[in-house]
Amino acid sequence: MLNDLISDFLAAMPLPALLVDQSERIIAANAEALTLLGQQIIGRHFATILRQPQVLDAIEAGLRDKRPHTARHLSNDGAQDTTYDVTCRYVRGIGAVQGGAVLVSFQDVTHLEQAGQMRRDFVANVSHELRTPLTALMGFIETLRGAAKDDPIARDRFLGIMEGEASRMNRLVGDLLSLNRVESDERVRPKEQVNLTQTLEDTLHTLRPLGEEAGVVLHLTAPEEDVEVTGDPDQLRQVFTNLVENAIKYGASGGRVDLVLTSSERDPAVRAAAARVQVIDKGPGIDPVHLPRLTERFYRADNHRSRQLGGTGLGLAIVKHIVNRHRGRLRVESELGQGAVFTVILPK
Ligand SMILES: Nc1ncnc2c1ncn2[C@@H]1O[C@H](COP(=O)(O)OP(=O)(O)OP(=O)(O)O)[C@@H](O)[C@H]1O
Ligand SMILES: [Mg+2]
Repeated sequence: MLNDLISDFLAAMPLPALLVDQSERIIAANAEALTLLGQQIIGRHFATILRQPQVLDAIEAGLRDKRPHTARHLSNDGAQDTTYDVTCRYVRGIGAVQGGAVLVSFQDVTHLEQAGQMRRDFVANVSHELRTPLTALMGFIETLRGAAKDDPIARDRFLGIMEGEASRMNRLVGDLLSLNRVESDERVRPKEQVNLTQTLEDTLHTLRPLGEEAGVVLHLTAPEEDVEVTGDPDQLRQVFTNLVENAIKYGASGGRVDLVLTSSERDPAVRAAAARVQVIDKGPGIDPVHLPRLTERFYRADNHRSRQLGGTGLGLAIVKHIVNRHRGRLRVESELGQGAVFTVILPK
């Protein structure tokens, strides 16, 4: 009778849970616990099943002092690591010689752990990115006060470099803020009607001087009739600005960047009417090993070159979030030496 009641209670618990009594054996366990620890655990000594010292200590302490204890349990099912918070609580009057038992339950905290890790990585990355230009600025200030004090030519040159470093920091902060903004309204669907043909023409017009400076010709191919999508005009302009800027910066050796706009009544990628914009360069391309991580914040395929060109490593992360907000897709295809193709698919 009592045993039935205990099993029913355990079965009703949404977390893996089991009971260890004063005989130090597992006297009951729910289906979730059997899945986690194995089907043959009932009747076994708990130390043969739960081998992690922290968890063993917590259960032993609970049996002894009848107070709550917690521990971390790490498990690996071969494919991935899972972290559990293990809670041990004493239950009176059940188990061998009615000596009471410890209820051991497992809460999966893997996602919390990962979120915490991501936050720590992000703060570390931002600090690192800011520190580099800041260190340079501080160095030059010192030089200007000392060695270069009475040398107007050196002073001018240093001020020029300092301006560059300061604007790099400014760009970084600007990019972080815009990433933050895009992320915070990612769930709100944009509703404006945007003339995509016009947006692309404007983008190219703005970036033409940058292209000329790098010896790159920009060219747009679009259908006769203007293509319209539902979207946020400023954000879409930012998407194409970032992609064309990259194509100019990294693909300059190819001498040209092509934008190709097409429109279809049923695009297989989004299973709906959609517009596609391809940004094509003929530069050195991107090693395929980098492709899966390219849209991560601060990820750079060619670290040295990107920094040298003043990149913050946030451009594609912003693109990705904006495209997500539009329920669109971003595809990257590239082979080393063959240039790169960035495709944005936007449902109409
Ligand atoms: N067209 C391209 N050809 C070759 N490599 C590219 C191309 N586009 C992007 N990359 C690589 O992807 C990386 C990430 O691009 P992203 O735009 O996110 O950052 P960034 O250009 O370094 O900095 P930001 O755009 O914030 O100034 C770049 O550092 C570069 O190594
Ligand atoms: Mg970029």
